[in-house]
Amino acid sequence: MVTPTYNEADNLPILVADLGEALRQVPHEVIVADDDSPDRTWEVGEQLATTTANLSVVRRFHDHGLSAAVLDGMSVARGSILAVIDADLQHDPGILPEMVRLIESDEADLVVGSRATAGGGYGDWAASRRFVSWVATFIARVILRVRVSDPMSGFFAVRRDVYERDAPRINPRGFKILLEFIGRDRNLRVVEVPYEFRNRIHGETKLNRSVIRSYLLAVAELRLGRQVDPAFLLYVLVGVVGLAVNSLVFSIGEAVGVPQFTTGLNEALDPIYGSFVLSVAVSTVVVFVLNNEFTFWEQRYSGWKLLPAFAVFVGMTVVGTLVHVGVFSYLQNIGLLLSVLGDAGARTLHNLVGAVVALIVNWYLNTTYLWRRRVR
Ligand code: GDD
Ligand code: MN
Repeated sequence: MVTPTYNEADNLPILVADLGEALRQVPHEVIVADDDSPDRTWEVGEQLATTTANLSVVRRFHDHGLSAAVLDGMSVARGSILAVIDADLQHDPGILPEMVRLIESDEADLVVGSRATAGGGYGDWAASRRFVSWVATFIARVILRVRVSDPMSGFFAVRRDVYERDAPRINPRGFKILLEFIGRDRNLRVVEVPYEFRNRIHGETKLNRSVIRSYLLAVAELRLGRQVDPAFLLYVLVGVVGLAVNSLVFSIGEAVGVPQFTTGLNEALDPIYGSFVLSVAVSTVVVFVLNNEFTFWEQRYSGWKLLPAFAVFVGMTVVGTLVHVGVFSYLQNIGLLLSVLGDAGARTLHNLVGAVVALIVNWYLNTTYLWRRRVR
């Protein structure tokens, strides 16, 4: 049993007792993989180890993270079945003997303790957390075509030879250690055992924005391999969201009748549609915020620095728009593929090429001057 811990000092003694109880008939060891918790969970573990047989603590000082901790725990485990359980008492250790049996009888290579399969449940988990979990599960099922109903589970068991075969390929980033196994190894026989999820009593969740972000990166990587920079995919995703926000605001603006206005500056300019201005403004802010808080989370700006950063961002967006228009007019002028696609078809293509070139120029400008990225 590997249990990853970060500030679980109050939960650990209960977990260890519960595991001992549930696994009375099953020979086992417990490995606490702790990231040098400020609440000294590691010390609680070491204390427990003086009175509990086969309990050990791996106190990790480097490369903190849930998946990395689990992998470290697994690497020192001695059993023929390696199991993982979160330390926060949200999972039911009572199903462990059944999980072990399924692997020993060779009915499964990997067994997932599942909240989402018949007989399981999420307890009275907050609606917001259920939603996050639902979206993450949906993404895994649609994008990675994973068939497991609860691929986000922090509760699973895997046969040792499967672990030894797959571990070298696993990316130890983020929370999604189970997904790394089932996402990379398509031939695994996976069985789910239902259980009822419980609420956290002590301590708090470590799931935050950076976890969600690294989850999306991990999914992109599992799907596409390492050829494409996953941050670029997030960037494109944010762009798509921006487009959607733009058309939504525009439609709403038209529906409620945001007025047109005239500047009197230039005839070609006037009249200006209020809903157009509004939709560009709102979507620019949304795209900036999402990129700052999400795509470039590690390099994000905060406090007063947000203002100059936003100004630079707007400047780059203007450059991008100029590039877009420039490429479009150039292609229109040379009439690229005009004879093949016809007037409307060619215009659509020219616009699309312009948008893609602008996107790449923007990506280059943003990552070079605004959210400068460290070399990995
Ligand atoms: N060593 C280590 N390092 N342990 C960690 C870290 C870390 O950086 N972050 C979290 N943990 C431990 C926690 O102490 C806990 O035992 C377990 O990992 C799960 O962390 P939680 O913070 O309780 O996660 P959660 O309950 O919000 O998330 C649950 O739902 C997710 C999505 O449905 C877990 O079951 C996740 O595994 C699951 O993906
Ligand atoms: Mn939890």
